[in-house]
Amino acid sequence: MHFDRRSTLRLIATCATRPRLALLAAAAAPPLRAQDVPQPEKQPIMAGPYVPSPETVVSQMLEMAGVGPDDVLIDMGSGDGRIVLTAAKLRGARGLGIEIQERLVTLSIEAARREGIDGRARFVRQDLFTTDVSEATVVTIYLLPDTVNMLRDKLRRELRPGTRVLTHDYPIAGWLPESWQRFDEPEKKGATGQPSATVYLYRIPAQVGGRWQVGMPAELSRQRLVLSLRQQWQMLDGMATLGNREIPLEDVRLRGDEVAFRLPIERGRIARFEGRARDGLIEGSATLDGSALPWRASRA
Ligand SMILES: C[S@@+](CC[C@H](N)C(=O)[O-])C[C@H]1O[C@@H](n2cnc3c(N)ncnc32)[C@H](O)[C@@H]1O
Repeated sequence: MHFDRRSTLRLIATCATRPRLALLAAAAAPPLRAQDVPQPEKQPIMAGPYVPSPETVVSQMLEMAGVGPDDVLIDMGSGDGRIVLTAAKLRGARGLGIEIQERLVTLSIEAARREGIDGRARFVRQDLFTTDVSEATVVTIYLLPDTVNMLRDKLRRELRPGTRVLTHDYPIAGWLPESWQRFDEPEKKGATGQPSATVYLYRIPAQVGGRWQVGMPAELSRQRLVLSLRQQWQMLDGMATLGNREIPLEDVRLRGDEVAFRLPIERGRIARFEGRARDGLIEGSATLDGSALPWRASRA
């Protein structure tokens, strides 16, 4: 781009006068009121279609999660309420169905009343993206693949370690399931073109990555033990520093808040550590030569 002398002078003159003009206009304008400020368009609620899970899928989900009377099951997008109703009726669990379609919520509430389980099976007309699910011990999901993936961070943020999450047909991207079951289900052919269904089971892991200072029973070792754990979702590995030795941990496992690993304390002597992670501590017992001793670790 090229400026000749005359246009350069014009540009300098404009720059010099414009700010003053803008200031004068601002001084003359009436003060802004909240209702004058432009608001973003209200976001439409993301809602996929209503397709009920066949009864075989409902049973499979409840079975894989081991749902029982101590559980609180939340179905995110509960349709006609069948998962919550079955969990309450056949397994004695408490449940909450979150559903955006009024008609389906009404149907679910009526069904719960009819079955006499409305004290344990509740339904609300709400957007699942803005509903707090932290009270759940089990979450069930049958939603479109993109919606399932959009829920991943919410689940991880709100749910307590150990909470089971089950998805029907669509896995959660970037999170390896603990297990899955694929089985024949002719009823699915109409919805997906495949006469089969898949259920994926996930478990919210405790956050244990990082360095831990271990209080060891003297009978195990008098040396200082520090663990360095690396975590990606429920996958865990790590190293131990025992005295001045670096030792890779063996058979490291994380299941909800349960941590376990094996540590070769000295040649031919391997201790098995098991513990629960809670409130910034890991506490449990370590077994060596057949006797179990208590151990505890705190963040280093
Ligand atoms: C595929 S159906 C599954 C119904 C039930 N969970 C089952 O497995 O039988 C998905 C349901 O989620 C509901 N849904 C979709 N988006 C939603 C949202 N943002 N908030 C609440 N419900 C939603 C739909 O209305 C639909 O009833």
